[in-house]
Amino acid sequence: MEPYQNLVFLKNFVTRPNIEVGAYTYYDDFKDPANFEKNVLYHFDFIGDKLIIGKFCAIASGVKFIMNGANHESRPISTFPFAIFRNGWEKIMEGQNPKEKFPYKGDTVIGNDVWIGYEATIMPGVTIGDGAVIASKAVVTKDVAPYTIVGGNPAKLIRKRFEADDAARLQKIAWWNWSAEKITEHLLLINSGDIDALEKVAG
Ligand SMILES: CC(C)(COP(=O)(O)OP(=O)(O)OC[C@H]1O[C@@H](n2cnc3c(N)ncnc32)[C@H](O)[C@@H]1OP(=O)(O)O)[C@@H](O)C(=O)NCCC(=O)NCCS
Repeated sequence: MEPYQNLVFLKNFVTRPNIEVGAYTYYDDFKDPANFEKNVLYHFDFIGDKLIIGKFCAIASGVKFIMNGANHESRPISTFPFAIFRNGWEKIMEGQNPKEKFPYKGDTVIGNDVWIGYEATIMPGVTIGDGAVIASKAVVTKDVAPYTIVGGNPAKLIRKRFEADDAARLQKIAWWNWSAEKITEHLLLINSGDIDALEKVAG
């Protein structure tokens, strides 16, 4: 985006098969926007968890996604991951399914039209609903409802952008799935608070 070089449409820069990104979602990075994947941490193919990001999301510099490969056990006497050093220590894995042995929280799913603020951290297995806002420096440990704003560590509700019934109407309209031409035509409505009018043109 001339003259600002720090912003990329993320879909074009993702190489890992376990990361999916929707159209128009952008990532901003002060140093190296093309290398978004450095922020998707502990993401190992053998675990197979996915990071799925919808359309029209805005992801600020320093946002981190911590994936399931980060999880050590916390029930045993020691949390030390002996097995990875092998030389006999792999015996703690004998007869065990790695997904059951180590805590597995599932895929990370970010909806559409989500704004994730500067240096927020998203923990494994979290689902963030359409239209949500994640405050800068938040640590998101639990699912975030659509069209809500959360912040802090652990992230808590700051306020709702829309009440649940209006949020559901907006998710049904799903303007982010319209053609670029239709979005352009109705941009002022998308940028307004008039859900009735948006519903009328949604068809
Ligand atoms: C979350 C955010 C959108 C809220 O903005 P806002 O609607 O103007 O809200 P306010 O500043 O009035 O703050 C509302 C409340 O949220 C709290 N809050 C604001 N930002 C917060 C943050 N990052 N972490 C925790 N709490 C936060 C405020 O202290 C206030 O709390 P109170 O109601 O107890 O007084 C904004 O603070 C934010 O973090 N924006 C992200 C900016 C960013 O990182 N941009 C990157 C470039 S895209």
